Amino acid sequence: MFQEKMDLRLPGPVQVPKEIQIAMQQSFDHPMMDYRNPAFQEVLQETIDKAKMVFQTKNLVVPLTSSGASALETAIINTVGANDTIILCVVGYFGEYLQGITDHIGCKVVRVEAEWGKVVDPEEVRAALKDHPEAKAVFATHCETSTSAINNIKEIAAIVRETEAIFMVDAVSSIVGTPLYMDDWGIDIVATGGQKALMLPPGLALITMSDKAWKIIEKHQCPSFYLDLKKYKKGLESGVGTPYTPNIALVCGLKEACNMIERGGGMEQEYKRHAALRDMTRAGVRALGLELFVEDSAASPTLTAVKLENADAFRKLMREEFHIALGGGLGKVKNKILRLGHMGYTDAADMLKMFAAMELALKKSGYEVELGAGVAGAQKQWLENPNC
Ligand SMILES: Cc1ncc(COP(=O)(O)O)c(C=O)c1O
Repeated sequence: MFQEKMDLRLPGPVQVPKEIQIAMQQSFDHPMMDYRNPAFQEVLQETIDKAKMVFQTKNLVVPLTSSGASALETAIINTVGANDTIILCVVGYFGEYLQGITDHIGCKVVRVEAEWGKVVDPEEVRAALKDHPEAKAVFATHCETSTSAINNIKEIAAIVRETEAIFMVDAVSSIVGTPLYMDDWGIDIVATGGQKALMLPPGLALITMSDKAWKIIEKHQCPSFYLDLKKYKKGLESGVGTPYTPNIALVCGLKEACNMIERGGGMEQEYKRHAALRDMTRAGVRALGLELFVEDSAASPTLTAVKLENADAFRKLMREEFHIALGGGLGKVKNKILRLGHMGYTDAADMLKMFAAMELALKKSGYEVELGAGVAGAQKQWLENPNC
């Protein structure tokens, strides 16, 4: 009966709004759009121009026909090579992921770390840069999706900006949901994917570079034929388009996602809306008597991690009984946390429904829970800040 019903309270992919589905569908309704046709080139240019707002930048935004990880790899292979020193900020699974890429190409990696659930101290980045003046780049995850902690990108950027190194940011699960001002903060490369707060189905990645980064990219021999950013710049700036076939449907979807954000009040409103969803979620979790994985000061507006033993059995129960999919722990916190997604096309009522179902599932799992407690906690918070 309910095979097709599922509420995605995941840290991505997320619910794709009807408006975006329609925009994507129109691109391949008869006749299929031709990507070399001037009509599509106009859509592409308009879309990448609109997408600048999500990065808060004036820089060129490059679309890639792939997922977020390809944008991270693109950032790295276009700027550093074997034996180059790179400082990596590692606070969870996705920080380790970055090291997977840099190890693969043979970089010398200097790690600035914090335990899972905590964030990097920007002063430790300063010290690493002082100890390693040869470092070509610093790379940090903005929202560490495995823990729901937000690194202090603004402060790290201010420190890196004083050096020759470039600063790259993995904004896969933060973009749109969390303030990130690429130009004002002085970030050199921001890489992201579309299937999180941009509300697209998976398959589109975006990357954008500062002038400081482009100067390095222009001189760097990129080992990949497909992901060589120089070709993308040339094609997009000359109006020819991407060097290879773009994902036309996802480009059209991205344009609609940007339009939706504009209609909703723009980026500042998105930041407020996501912050309100975060606060509501944290209030509900506390009211249930569960423990949050991250302190308030570093809590992500896009997802919330909650400690729970046997979390995977609980997720199974939520999925099978209530058709609500919750995220689980990755790596060393597997089965020990829940990750509650509240990014993109999510509203207050979605969270209230999730808490009502969680209360029943907790009871069924043997926890002492007062029915209504989580919902009431979230409701009270909403009354204080009804911005979602
Ligand atoms: C912070 C972060 N970085 C990288 C990735 C990898 O992105 P993708 O799965 O789109 O390749 C993810 C995916 O969840 C992520 O959350």
